[in-house]
Amino acid sequence: MNLRSKIKRHLPWIFLYIYRKIYYLPQDFPAAVGFLLHRTKSPTTLTSRLSLIYKFYAISYKVDCPHTEHELLTIARRILNLGTGVSGVIVEAGAYHGGSTAKLSLVARLCRRQLAVFDSFEGMPGNTEMHGKSIFGREHHFPKGSHAVTLQEVKHNITRYGDINRCHFYKGWFSETMPHFRDMVAAACINVDLVQSTKDCLRYLYPLTQKGGVIFSQDSHFPWIIDLLSDDAFWEHDLGIKKPTLEGLGSSKLVAIPID
Ligand SMILES: C[S@@+](CC[C@H](N)C(=O)[O-])C[C@H]1O[C@@H](n2cnc3c(N)ncnc32)[C@H](O)[C@@H]1O
Repeated sequence: MNLRSKIKRHLPWIFLYIYRKIYYLPQDFPAAVGFLLHRTKSPTTLTSRLSLIYKFYAISYKVDCPHTEHELLTIARRILNLGTGVSGVIVEAGAYHGGSTAKLSLVARLCRRQLAVFDSFEGMPGNTEMHGKSIFGREHHFPKGSHAVTLQEVKHNITRYGDINRCHFYKGWFSETMPHFRDMVAAACINVDLVQSTKDCLRYLYPLTQKGGVIFSQDSHFPWIIDLLSDDAFWEHDLGIKKPTLEGLGSSKLVAIPID
């Protein structure tokens, strides 16, 4: 067990939370300041942006969130800058405890969009994928049923900390729920850990994502996801397109795929 895992195991939550916020401060602080000081195409005020930052931090304190503030603030800023020229809903694939869902529902409220939330709410599907270290050196494994959180708990967290009225839930495996989804998509946030799950999301969500919209992968710190996204054959055979621009691939957990 490395030092970070030892610290995590023994610290009370309040200290672990503070530790995490200090650890990620070099990335989170500039993202928060940038978010606060820049106007967005969707009408926001300094106060509403400050309030959103505060709520993001509060949600991370209350709900187990495997993402950073930097990651979600970058996504929020990008979505709020899509403007009315890009129609469609926001999609989240992979909700876990609903921390990111609560945050995205608040972003959806600010830009007057709906949020479509896809998850099994039973955790990971059975898989034979080989996992291991992320590009940051931490071990990750995703056996069947890991990350399982019920729809009831997710709804409870969003009701308390987000805007449940913005959310529509699609419970089940992506390969079964997404083929029936027909809504236009303005932005999609894919945070699903597995190669097969990422493939399913891209296969069904990419064609629905509107020109000027954006797809995010929040799993690009995993070598197996980097391999998938950099594979020309995947884009050509599974989606029938040339490999698109992949902003941040190989250096960051968050990759943005602008649709043009
Ligand atoms: C890393 S968690 C999501 C974290 C969440 N976005 C956050 O930041 O709080 C991954 C989620 O993807 C879901 N998932 C992965 N593969 C899936 C699949 N093929 N079908 C449905 N849900 C899937 C799991 O149930 C899990 O809740």
